[in-house]
Amino acid sequence: MKKSTFITFGLLVFVLAVVIPWLAFRGSGDANTGVEAVPANLKQGQALFQTNCGTCHTLYAAGTDGNYGPDLDELLAPSGQAETPEAAKGVAERVLNAEKEGVDSSAPGRMPPGILNPEQQKEVAEFVGTVAGAG
Ligand code: HEC
Repeated sequence: MKKSTFITFGLLVFVLAVVIPWLAFRGSGDANTGVEAVPANLKQGQALFQTNCGTCHTLYAAGTDGNYGPDLDELLAPSGQAETPEAAKGVAERVLNAEKEGVDSSAPGRMPPGILNPEQQKEVAEFVGTVAGAG
């Protein structure tokens, strides 16, 4: 192979394997995706939500856009993010209840109960209670 061919090919590989993925991924986490920076104590709940709930539910602060189940910003906080700890707690309790019991789970295709263990359920409920309605 001629040296120039080798160099051209090398550049092409670099662009395809490094530059394009870098351009594609560097955006995640910034404001455009809707993922909110949350306090450290809510990070675990946010990550769990993204993995376990986001495929079915839209939630702005988690950056998820699932539309199998209801949009949780609209459902839980139609007038915006909870302003007091008490309000956040009320929403968190509703979420925790849905996580534990499921919603309508005897009917097919509804919200299944017990996706997460009890500790994780609490973390997700606290996260959702605090951030629902953001954005
Ligand atoms: C397989 C899809 C699916 C997954 C995964 C899922 N849900 Fe749901 N969820 C639904 C559906 C569907 C409904 C609406 C059920 C109905 O109205 O009959 C719902 C309803 C809800 C509600 C509303 C309850 C109420 O009080 O009205 C909350 C809150 C909720 N889900 C939270 C979560 C959380 C948190 C997770 C992750 C642990 C999660 N969901 C995972 C499908 C899902």
